[in-house]
Amino acid sequence: MPVFGKGRVRRPKFYGKPELEGVKIELYRESVKAGAASGRRYRRSRGYKYEITPLSGVERFLHFNVTHWVLKRYKKVKRPVNVLDWGCGQGTAITELVKRLPSKVNAYGYSKDFYPSWTENPHVKFIQETHDQVPRFFKKIPLDLILSLAGLHHLQASMSRGVSLAVIENRRRWLKEYKKYILRLAERLAPGGVLVTSFIGLPSHVDEFASSFNPKKDRVRARVLHCSYYPGAPAGVDNIFMLEKI
Ligand SMILES: C[S@@+](CC[C@H](N)C(=O)[O-])C[C@H]1O[C@@H](n2cnc3c(N)ncnc32)[C@H](O)[C@@H]1O
Repeated sequence: MPVFGKGRVRRPKFYGKPELEGVKIELYRESVKAGAASGRRYRRSRGYKYEITPLSGVERFLHFNVTHWVLKRYKKVKRPVNVLDWGCGQGTAITELVKRLPSKVNAYGYSKDFYPSWTENPHVKFIQETHDQVPRFFKKIPLDLILSLAGLHHLQASMSRGVSLAVIENRRRWLKEYKKYILRLAERLAPGGVLVTSFIGLPSHVDEFASSFNPKKDRVRARVLHCSYYPGAPAGVDNIFMLEKI
C-alpha cells in the first residue's frame, strides 16, 4: 500500500512550494486523472507507462552496484538498510531490490507523481510528495542510500529554467541552488551513507559541481562516479554524481 504523508493514506497535496531556495520550479501542470483502483483521484504522470527501469538498468546507468553495496552495508550496520529511490517512477527497481534482499532492506520510493502500480508492491513504502518535503519524511529514519536515476536531475532542468545548462551565469546560479538541495538531502544520510544520482550537463559541469563541496564544512565527500566524453551524448544519464556522508 502506498504511504502518503506520515503513513496516512490520503489524497496528496499538489501545491508544494513553487520555489526552491528562491528559484521557481515548474510543478504540476498536468491535469488530474482518475488514478488507482481505490477510486480516489490522483494526479498521474503522463509518462507513467515507461518509468520502469529495472534494478539491473539502474545499476548499469548509475555505474553503481546497488545490491552489492546494500549487502556490504547490512553486514556493517547489522540492521536493515534504509534505501530511498528519489524519483522512483513505477518503483520497479526498488521493488526488485526488496525481493532480492528481503529483510535486509527498508525500501522507500519517492515521487511527485502517483503510479497505480505502487498499490501492488506492499514491501515498499511509496511517498508521493514534492521534492522540498523529502527531509520531513526522513527525520527519524537515517538513510543509508539515496538513489536517483533520472529523478533528481529534473530539478537541475527546472532550476536552469530552460536556459541552456551551459550558459555560465545561469549555471553558477542553478548549481548553487542544486547544491543547497543536495545538502538538505545529505542531512538525512547516516554517517557512511551515500547518494548516487545522474547529473544533466557536460562532464565539466559535473566536475565543477563535485568540486564545489567542502568535506570540512559540508561534512560530505563528493565525487564524479562516471562521466561520458562522447561528444554527442545527450544530457541525461551520462554523468553520475556521488556523495558520501562523513
Ligand atoms: C524519468 S522518471 C524516472 C523514473 C525511474 N527512476 C526510472 O528510471 O524508471 C522521473 C521521476 O522523478 C519524479 N520527479 C521529477 N521531478 C520531481 C520533483 N520535483 N519532486 C519529486 N519527484 C520528481 C517523477 O515523478 C518521476 O517519477
